[in-house]
Amino acid sequence: MGMVQKPPVWLDMDPGIDDAWAMALALAACDVRGISAVAGNVSLPHTFANAQKILRTLSVDDRPVLPGAIGPLLTPLMTAPAFHGVGGLADWGETTAAPVDPQDERVWSWWSTHRAEIQGIHLIATGPLTNLAISFLAFPALADIWGSITLMCGVMPGAQTDKAQEFNVYVDPHAADYVFHWGRRVRLVGIHVAHQALIPLEDLSRLGHYGKAGAMLSRVLPFYVQEARGEGGNPNAFPVDDVVAVASVVRPDLFQWRDMPLAVVREGPLRGTVVLSPIDVKRPPVQVATDIDVDGFRQWVWDTMEYYAEHPTT
Ligand code: RIB
Ligand code: CA
Repeated sequence: MGMVQKPPVWLDMDPGIDDAWAMALALAACDVRGISAVAGNVSLPHTFANAQKILRTLSVDDRPVLPGAIGPLLTPLMTAPAFHGVGGLADWGETTAAPVDPQDERVWSWWSTHRAEIQGIHLIATGPLTNLAISFLAFPALADIWGSITLMCGVMPGAQTDKAQEFNVYVDPHAADYVFHWGRRVRLVGIHVAHQALIPLEDLSRLGHYGKAGAMLSRVLPFYVQEARGEGGNPNAFPVDDVVAVASVVRPDLFQWRDMPLAVVREGPLRGTVVLSPIDVKRPPVQVATDIDVDGFRQWVWDTMEYYAEHPTT
């Protein structure tokens, strides 16, 4: 069988423990052209430092890692230390992080000056959508350069789940609404499918076979699992939301998709709820993942992790 073509991707993340596993799988299954950090699970200094630390641990290849927004467009930053620890990677991340140098180039200007290099590649966003929204505001042409924009965020309107709001959209509802309005070839992988694709707790014992990636995940996952287990209604399993977003780019065949125009409730008690956009607003359709082949997803995760068994030096 011929070599499978690795999709060229850019990762915009708020690492974050499930972001860390998502990055590990993307580095194995995709051609990762660059990584950017946004404030979300923890503050920008931590997410930026964590993105660099995870990459340094998992890959010998150099690639651009850029900082992004220090907080949401209009709402105060809300972080998730209960799930990820104060440093964002349990006790593996730095609990103190230097502020990001205000002179450091931000990802939206890097994307603008390197447009030719990223034209047509696939963006995978697994944190609040602040960087993407700012890029569209600052350089409108950037809204149409990505081959696709896959968002780990939100809950599909009308989905039968116990949660109506998801963290990434709740933290920056204005950015999410902006991306649904201006983004092109946007795909949504929400927690209504991610919380079906749970990883059984006993699978944690497999991590020892996967070199440095397995060692890193063995170190950080237990902290996340203690808080996240049961999120999908099964106390013996845990969700890996950002991993599902990467899987949807590499293996879209594992998902069912439906097109629908989307909007976001930006204020009030329903803040962060994803709703259908009224037809007369003429928003482009978002391809929404409506279902997932859970066994196929799990098989993909462990088949992809084999990369680190075969490349222990990375
Ligand atoms: O709601 C889950 C999402 O919020 C994940 O991306 C997690 O890392 C947090 O960013
Ligand atoms: Ca995330």
